[in-house]
Amino acid sequence: MRLVPHTLSIAPMMDVTDRHFRFFLRLITKHTLLYTPMIHAKAILLGDRQRLLDFNPMEHPIAIQLGGGNPAELAQAAKICEEFGYDEVNLNVGCPSSRVQDGNFGACLMATPELVAEAISQMKAAVKIPVTVKHRVGIDDRDQYEDMLDFVDTVAKANCDRFIVHARKAWLNGLNPKQNRSVPPLCYDKVYRLKRERPELTIVINGGIRTLDETRTHLDQVDGVMIGRAAQETPLIFVEADGKIFGTNTRQPSIFEAMGEYIEKEKLAGIHPRDITRHLAGLSHGMPGGKTWRAMAMEGHPDLFKQPILAKLAVERRATNI
Ligand SMILES: Cc1cc2nc3c(=O)[nH]c(=O)nc-3n(C[C@H](O)[C@H](O)[C@H](O)COP(=O)(O)O)c2cc1C
Repeated sequence: MRLVPHTLSIAPMMDVTDRHFRFFLRLITKHTLLYTPMIHAKAILLGDRQRLLDFNPMEHPIAIQLGGGNPAELAQAAKICEEFGYDEVNLNVGCPSSRVQDGNFGACLMATPELVAEAISQMKAAVKIPVTVKHRVGIDDRDQYEDMLDFVDTVAKANCDRFIVHARKAWLNGLNPKQNRSVPPLCYDKVYRLKRERPELTIVINGGIRTLDETRTHLDQVDGVMIGRAAQETPLIFVEADGKIFGTNTRQPSIFEAMGEYIEKEKLAGIHPRDITRHLAGLSHGMPGGKTWRAMAMEGHPDLFKQPILAKLAVERRATNI
């Protein structure tokens, strides 16, 4: 058992891992590392920083993911993120969307390892917090193990602190982002081999991992596990994360009470309850009546917290303070 945040993390997910989602997940697990969705470096340099970057101190440990392909801009943005208090800055080298390709960032950067190395080098020079990369096992026809190794070796020379590997290649033409998260097969072996052949590097595996038992199996081979969709669809799998993965015995507040208070506070700041409660939809996963609860959560229904399913959840999860 290691109390190292990257041992278990929740993946950056656009439209999902916003500050409300992160607040909710932090009530369930104290130690799991949380990621923001990708934010373009330029947006940070030119946009409303407070709105884009603000987070609740209880979200620590928290990493921000940057998008972009211009090393100087990425370095400036990284510095601003460090000043805001983020614990890590991560560069997106995995997003295959056509909009992102048009902007020359995301997964297409796997074809230019030197540019990524330059970006990491400039970001490292600008900040003291860890600078990490999230990438794929390959893109298009650059999908051999040796292609990925060449990418990692080049970026490692810039002292990249960690490599988070989504264990699927991306097809940049022909598949949309959603398909690129399910159609190309998972290649865990390539990630395991990378760790075996480069034991001095810190390697985190991502893709298709849905339980803490699976997490522990992967941790025999690599340094960390990153979970994406399962965190949204079945957030309660993280209830045992602090104990099972980090070996700590943390006592968490009552989730519903804390979320109720949070919603009231955010309402005063003009946030619609729906923007918060939509993240709770997965709580009812697999439960009778779950569909109604989910629909109510998605619309921010005022009676959401009065539903019988809540009492059932509370009883079933008594041991875990839900
Ligand atoms: C709705 C959604 C949005 C995503 N947005 C991002 C993103 O902003 N940055 C990123 O690196 N990956 C993004 N991803 C990919 C995830 O981080 C992760 O790599 C992928 O879902 C595979 O992990 P999983 O099988 O555990 O979900 C997104 C995935 C989903 C489902």
